[in-house]
Amino acid sequence: MKFDRHRRLRSSQVMRNMVKETYVHKSDLIYPIFVIEEDNIKNEITSMPGIYQLSLNLLEEELKEAYDLGVRGVMFFGIPNEKDACGTGAFIDDGIIQKATRLSKSKFPDLLVVADTCLCEYTDHGHCGVIDEETNDVDNDKSLELLVKTAVSQAKAGADIIAPSNMMDGFVAEIREGLDQAGFINIPIMSYGIKYASSFYGPFREAADGAPSFGDRKTYQMDPSNRLEAFRELESDIKEGCDMMIVKPALSYLDIIRDVRNRSDLPIVAYNVSGEYSMTKAAALNGWIDEEKIVMEQMISMKRAGADMIITYFAKDICKYLDGGE
Ligand code: PBG
Ligand code: ZN
Repeated sequence: MKFDRHRRLRSSQVMRNMVKETYVHKSDLIYPIFVIEEDNIKNEITSMPGIYQLSLNLLEEELKEAYDLGVRGVMFFGIPNEKDACGTGAFIDDGIIQKATRLSKSKFPDLLVVADTCLCEYTDHGHCGVIDEETNDVDNDKSLELLVKTAVSQAKAGADIIAPSNMMDGFVAEIREGLDQAGFINIPIMSYGIKYASSFYGPFREAADGAPSFGDRKTYQMDPSNRLEAFRELESDIKEGCDMMIVKPALSYLDIIRDVRNRSDLPIVAYNVSGEYSMTKAAALNGWIDEEKIVMEQMISMKRAGADMIITYFAKDICKYLDGGE
């Protein structure tokens, strides 16, 4: 033998299927939905064709479509009527997310609701916490109190998983304690602990009307140049008791997903963010790429990197592809 014959295992589709290492399943997918407080609105987001701001009274229809296709996880982002300095809308009983969660759980009890725990959609300044007047920066510990209230109110509304995305230090520890004290010892925390200060969130900020009105998020979200910093975040979240770890964004951070996989046994979630969706969609709509093939290759790449679950705006499309595929 002068060399290896790798092509032997690629000789036919049946052979290739037999040696396939990575799969995407419907059960891996979490579908984000933007919910708006006013009635009868179905606003397509300009930079995210196929994704809408949707009124509560139209939500059931959307949930049914996703459920019937096989989606079993959803995440709601709220566009409230009113905003204020401390993001009150995030933690009131009849907040938009609480209402969406109650509706979803009453109609589709086995559809998992993942609650994004943050204040930025509810603060008038658009930051993920409250502002310290002196430094003009987000006050970590004051924000934590409100985030704990938010998480507890989401759990009360019926959320199955709490996913804090605010990037305040100590958020996992404080939210865990708050949930436990309120009796929610069995509700897991899916931490967005590895969240980079990324421009790939641009379209989301249009969709959720959550762009900061001044400054940026670099004092709390991570520097895209850093890898070791992700390990420090991971270590803290493990110590503080998180149950699952999100890496966000996904496609430009596959190395980080792999690193987390190699360093911990936690289930890993890749957040295939809005900008990743927009770029793929734009090229597909221009006829420049094959949408189905590209989307599935992207999903496979996240799973191959080590992700167990994927939060993606393509969730419904992927279910359709999986139904039609081999
Ligand atoms: C809120 C939040 C953001 C995203 C998820 N939760 C925006 C941000 O941090 O700026 C981004 C999601 C996406 O781009 O798809 N903290
Ligand atoms: Zn936020």
